[in-house]
Amino acid sequence: MQLIENFKNVTIAELPQLAENIIQLFDKRNIICLQGEIGAGKTTLTKQIVKKIIGDDKAISPTFSILNIYTNSKENIYHLDLYRLNNKKEFFDLGLYEYLADNKMLIEWPELILDYLENYKFYLVKISIINETQRNIEIWG
Ligand SMILES: Nc1ncnc2c1ncn2[C@@H]1O[C@H](COP(=O)(O)OP(=O)(O)O)[C@@H](O)[C@H]1O
Ligand SMILES: [Mg+2]
Repeated sequence: MQLIENFKNVTIAELPQLAENIIQLFDKRNIICLQGEIGAGKTTLTKQIVKKIIGDDKAISPTFSILNIYTNSKENIYHLDLYRLNNKKEFFDLGLYEYLADNKMLIEWPELILDYLENYKFYLVKISIINETQRNIEIWG
């Protein structure tokens, strides 16, 4: 993969604009992975993206659920959070691979399945914490 874009010192206030950029990626590939340590802002960014596409501010953090599906009359967005999976086998046992082919997918904690995702086209959004309010956000593809 190669670095496509690099946004530096992004604040919460700038996330809606960044979400717009990321939404454009769905025109080319249906899977967007979000990588970064706990508290980096993966769920926060996901909420912004879901809000813009689905028009619902109430995207719930999927801390206790591995898959959330947000829907309106036109579109679905699948939000996977693999944090609680122990291994790749669980991903397959739960049948989660079935959703990868043709849904808009946002995947937090994709590390377990990154090699399997090579079978698909996806983007990787890497978020790193600069300080309490700022993040660096790289888009790889
Ligand atoms: N620039 C920023 N971008 C994203 N989150 C930020 C930013 N600055 C502060 N935060 C805060 O960091 C936390 C990120 O939490 P969350 O999105 O749940 O992280 P993750 O899903 O990566 O574990 C939130 O409390 C959010 O308000
Ligand atoms: Mg999260």
